[in-house]
Amino acid sequence: MAFNEPVLTKRIPTPPFGSFADRKLNTYEDFVRTGGYESLKKAVAMEPSDIVEVVKASELRGRGGAGFPAGMKWSFLPPQDGEPRYLAVNSDESEPGTFKDRMLLDFDPHLLLEGIAICMKACQLDTTYIYIRGEYHAQTKILENAINEAYANGIFGDQSIMGKVNDRFPNCYVHRGAGAYICGEETALLNSLEGKRGWPRIKPPFPAVAGAFGRPTIINNVESLAMVGPILLNGPQWFKSMGVGRPEGAPPQVPASYGPKLFGISGHINRPGVYEENLGITVKDLIETYGGGMRHGKKFKAAIPGGIAMGVLGTDQYDAPLDFDIGKKFACLGLGTAGVIVMDEDTDMVAALRNIVRFFSHESCGQCTPCREGGNWMYKTLCRIEQGDGTTKDLDLLLEIAASMGAMPGTTICGLADGANWAVRTFINKFWDEFESRVKPSVERVIPLAVVQ
Ligand SMILES: Cc1cc2nc3c(=O)[nH]c(=O)nc-3n(C[C@H](O)[C@H](O)[C@H](O)COP(=O)(O)O)c2cc1C
Ligand code: SF4
Repeated sequence: MAFNEPVLTKRIPTPPFGSFADRKLNTYEDFVRTGGYESLKKAVAMEPSDIVEVVKASELRGRGGAGFPAGMKWSFLPPQDGEPRYLAVNSDESEPGTFKDRMLLDFDPHLLLEGIAICMKACQLDTTYIYIRGEYHAQTKILENAINEAYANGIFGDQSIMGKVNDRFPNCYVHRGAGAYICGEETALLNSLEGKRGWPRIKPPFPAVAGAFGRPTIINNVESLAMVGPILLNGPQWFKSMGVGRPEGAPPQVPASYGPKLFGISGHINRPGVYEENLGITVKDLIETYGGGMRHGKKFKAAIPGGIAMGVLGTDQYDAPLDFDIGKKFACLGLGTAGVIVMDEDTDMVAALRNIVRFFSHESCGQCTPCREGGNWMYKTLCRIEQGDGTTKDLDLLLEIAASMGAMPGTTICGLADGANWAVRTFINKFWDEFESRVKPSVERVIPLAVVQ
């Protein structure tokens, strides 16, 4: 189905359906007047397990980066045991190039709060902590005001239309981070929430079993939760009529890329912003239809599909469809956050990669040796190449260090190091000629015979 009806941007004017200039904050009254909280009313009349089944049937995949099916995650919770159970909302949004959750918080915070309330009811979670990026000062205020409105109007608290959830009146709090990228990783987020150092935890146990304060916890991204209300209201089939289905003949356990999605687009284009489209829109269409085309009429050179942790798409991958399968088909890590960064023909790929690696090196929490040491080593090597002092051996060295890093080769606790690995390997492999043109041929050191003997 063509994307012809805004869903997440229903109340947020967005081209081509509306103008950025007409955007304004939707209050509780605005939200309710335009059909808001109808979905929660529906949820209140349902059995919790039936709500989980609807989300499962929709095959909604997490919008925070990893694309894990939300309904499946919700069904991993153990049975209730009388003790507290939590929802942690990941609003850390520190991935460079990513600013989609901020748009939802800025203009339609109740869409998130409705999704939160439905998730609490479905999973029987009594307390929600919205973990928000430290730099989001304005958004924290907006969220706090919206939460106050929600308490005053019987969404949360002892007057909640949900009554008691997990034998307690449902509560929702905002918790501010302090600006560390790593605290977006779900287990680092939990440690930070508990007042500890923001270090990722070794999994298992997974948060659904032992999360915040050792209790079962669901962690979902802002956009994932914002999508839950429209799904419950319109049904899973409506959701699955958008986006990209399973390849023909694929078994049902292969997750597809259904639904609309927020795409952030920035870099060398004319009209940066957050747009809503079906999953599967190509990079080309996103740039030309939504981004207003390449800036100054320059040629497309490369694009980062969804935050810098995903690696890069090459010049010949302009037609790549932005769905959850992009990693397998176009040799990058994945769709990530769908925060697309566009680079034109004048971009210095060595400098771009040096900048990216510096970020990962700086943000490493330091627990794992390959990430702590490898990031800094790669950064120094790239600086050397950029200054004209690198050799061909440095390129091999970069690829070797990158390949030894990350949770995928199984040498680190979390995925931050994977991000550095994929950035390095895709930039160098897809722009080999440019990197090679910036280094000198390596001269093997000739060891005098006398020394060898
Ligand atoms: C280094 C790192 C940073 C991350 N940062 C974020 C973030 O800012 N926001 C987010 O939603 N997920 C982030 N994630 C992914 C989370 O760990 C987790 O998968 C996500 O919050 C789950 O929500 P979802 O299933 O709704 O996508 C990050 C992961 C890693 C490895
Ligand atoms: S991979 Fe890096 S950021 Fe993640 S836990 Fe290990 S050292 Fe920390």
